[in-house]
Amino acid sequence: MKNIAVIGTGYVGLVVAVGLADLGNRVIGVDINNAKISMLNKGKLPFYEPGLKDYLEVNIESGRLKFNRDASSAIANSSVVILTLGTPPKRDGSSNLEYLESSVDEIADYARDYTLVVTKSTVPVGTNRALGERINARGARAEIEIVSNPEFLREGRAVQDFFHPDRVVIGAESERAREILRDIYGALRLDEVPFVWCGLETAELIKYATNAFLATKITFINQMANLAGKVGADISLIAKSMGMDGRIGEKFLHPGPGFGGSCLPKDIRALTSTGDSFDVDMGLVKSVIFANEEQKARVVAKLKELFGGQLHGLSIAVLGLAFKSNTDDVRESPTLRVVADLLKEEAIVHAHDPQAMDNFKAVFPHINYYASGHEAMKGTDAVLILTEWNEYRSLDLGQMRREMRGRIILDTRNLLDPRLAREYEFIYLGNGRGADLA
Ligand code: UDX
Repeated sequence: MKNIAVIGTGYVGLVVAVGLADLGNRVIGVDINNAKISMLNKGKLPFYEPGLKDYLEVNIESGRLKFNRDASSAIANSSVVILTLGTPPKRDGSSNLEYLESSVDEIADYARDYTLVVTKSTVPVGTNRALGERINARGARAEIEIVSNPEFLREGRAVQDFFHPDRVVIGAESERAREILRDIYGALRLDEVPFVWCGLETAELIKYATNAFLATKITFINQMANLAGKVGADISLIAKSMGMDGRIGEKFLHPGPGFGGSCLPKDIRALTSTGDSFDVDMGLVKSVIFANEEQKARVVAKLKELFGGQLHGLSIAVLGLAFKSNTDDVRESPTLRVVADLLKEEAIVHAHDPQAMDNFKAVFPHINYYASGHEAMKGTDAVLILTEWNEYRSLDLGQMRREMRGRIILDTRNLLDPRLAREYEFIYLGNGRGADLA
């Protein structure tokens, strides 16, 4: 059983701390936020993530998982320190590495014996090597090694992703480090999860390449959906058939209002900034960034078109504030842009989300929030569906028709049945389903 410190109990840090404790390690989660630490020690989560609370409670109870504010004692008592601190983007899109740097300084100062530093934060190529050099330059008394172990957890499915990852990527430069990682992830290996062993730079770039590819795939299908809608084709069948081609794969081919979240947008910006600094053309990724902004802007532009060019004074129900379903996270959610655009047009916004209303309120305190999708739609002129929450798939069209003032539905995630919507005499517009209007 290893003693592991996890520095940073944000989204990734918390899932990793809980997961590693469940695999039998003794884990101490560290965070500078006192309120968060006492919340976590009581088994309470600072954010919504399906399934995580049960694992948190069980592992606190077993004594394998604790949270503490004091990094120095956690470092001194652990042979492995996992870094899951944020790397927020700077103004130019490059990553701010301050938190990681001060953490490795602490590790250099407080580590007593051999310590393996495992970087899970997404960091630009070259960062791990630079952090290793920083530790050496500080004259640590213990031997300290650094490995890159990027994380691929998806919000809303993080617990499942932790225990059943598609692969575990480890950039390590010594057999000793590899042996420790094999040991920590022991229980996962039994499940025959593939491990990719590589160098530091390769591991760092695998993470960016993966997220940039996913962002590109989404953007591709979004643009195809825009075209399909215009020419009378059906994007769901196009995506399905494309997915049947083993070279393409069926996942991440769902059109929507643009991708958001804490990773994809930030990571692709950082990747282009790395490309620029090495003088390598990242034109494709740059155009994905541009196209995604356009995709978000299309939503209100489309609605405006449906209302003959102006939205002033109209009431619009906005269903779905989180950047995707099963999370309360609104970071870079396309809905932020949509609501800003609606307010610019002087429309009145009625908002609903099953989990993300509190977080959205912090950004837009003055729009109207409702306890259910149906409540939000009462008396409105149109409804916009922006997040693929299951509960929006089963909206009662009859009730909507009776309670709404208007009859326009703009369904950016294709959750509703166009034929049924038409039966209720809605003007229904899906995303890339030109056949909607046929
Ligand atoms: C992503 C990566 O998937 C994960 O591996 C990494 O660790 C962190 O970033 P996450 O941000 O949780 O995970 O969300 P993800 O499921 O990837 O969705 C990202 C965005 O793309 C969401 O806004 C989602 O709605 C959108 N999306 C996704 C689509 O619009 N269409 C799709 O087909 C898939």
